Amino acid sequence: MIDFKCDFRKLISAEELDERVATTRHFVARAQQDDFGGWVDLPTNYDKDEFARIKASATQINSDSDYLVCIGIGGSYLGHRAVIEALGGERGRTKILYAGNSLSARGLEKVIKQIGDADFSVNVISKSGTTTEPAVAFRVFKKLLIDKYGEEGAAKRIYATTDANKGALHDEAVAKDYVTFVVPDNIGGRYSVLTGVGLLAIAAAGIDIDRLMDGAEEERTALISDGGKAAEYAVLRNVMLEKGYDIEVLANFEPNFMYFNEWWKQLFGESEGKENKGIFPASVIYSTDLHSMGQYMQEGRRALFETFVEVASDYTGVPVPSSDENLDGLQYLEGREVDSICKVATQATREAHAAGGVPVMRIIIPEVDERSLGALIYFFEMSCALSAFTLGVNPFNQPGVEAYKTRMFELLGKPGYNK
Ligand code: PA5
Repeated sequence: MIDFKCDFRKLISAEELDERVATTRHFVARAQQDDFGGWVDLPTNYDKDEFARIKASATQINSDSDYLVCIGIGGSYLGHRAVIEALGGERGRTKILYAGNSLSARGLEKVIKQIGDADFSVNVISKSGTTTEPAVAFRVFKKLLIDKYGEEGAAKRIYATTDANKGALHDEAVAKDYVTFVVPDNIGGRYSVLTGVGLLAIAAAGIDIDRLMDGAEEERTALISDGGKAAEYAVLRNVMLEKGYDIEVLANFEPNFMYFNEWWKQLFGESEGKENKGIFPASVIYSTDLHSMGQYMQEGRRALFETFVEVASDYTGVPVPSSDENLDGLQYLEGREVDSICKVATQATREAHAAGGVPVMRIIIPEVDERSLGALIYFFEMSCALSAFTLGVNPFNQPGVEAYKTRMFELLGKPGYNK
């Protein structure tokens, strides 16, 4: 379902690539057996009861809320925003707002202002329940809910996605009788978008989560025996690194994919950036960024390779209008679909950058729809795990993210933390 292409011949021979891909294949089973490998079989064995409860809660939210404030950060935030925005945003009554993904007071105020007098609910998403950013935001929005709907009314509008058995948020949810969904123990935050972590917001946005899971399952079937094209991508990333290309730029031509890029950056950055190793994940949205980053891509330091995410299908219905005057000299494009011009720009960019010394890879999705996104999510998750194992690091831990927290707690005077 997801196609991968790379003209790798300048980097490695076909035989060597085959050999290296073959040695990567056993990493699929290693990921599957890992304590944090629950995402590998998730598209087939997800909790169907919880899935039905997620849909029912989404229906409830659509019936009583103009806004759903999703509170979470990192893996408890980026996945659902990526999917919702990539698919063009909300389709029904309820608009999704995001909070607790920074410590910006201005950001919080902006969300509060946007809600105004409208009806809203909250989905607080935190495995630990003690992550500072979402915990602060949750206090703020819980108070707003209580002020507006009273204690009991507020509790009915809080959906908590957290650990099944323990943690501050779990304990509060039990005490207050919130509707709860589970962050599975065997799936880390950045691999969790297709669980209760991401699915409630996505369903509340009116997006078909069955089709999203179907797409992921289709891709799982394609990759599960030997990693398929995900293994090729994983190996070639490492080949690039060995040849001195230590920055990967994910490039696509759809502005709606900005948060998908952010999700991808977390996935690869947090999975590989450890033990002084890793490919630095960066991203661009073209053609916008061709007018800002294009110069660097074409002629800057030759340490980056580029992975284009492309859409195979054509989007029609937005042609270039005709003009008899032709003052802008654009008449040669009269009647031509804007999307087809975009596809030409994509090819031209790939070719120009390759000629400028940037190794280029292509990941092609059939369509911008739920199935394709489900498949793309799974493709990247599998590629990331295989790539990290190839690199020699654990794809599923993130020991480095604690350092700033410890120092922040010391400075804030959190009990138990000394300056
Ligand atoms: O990927 C991860 O594990 C992290 O990004 C976490 O999701 C993030 O730090 C939020 O943690 P929590 O869900 O415990 O609030």
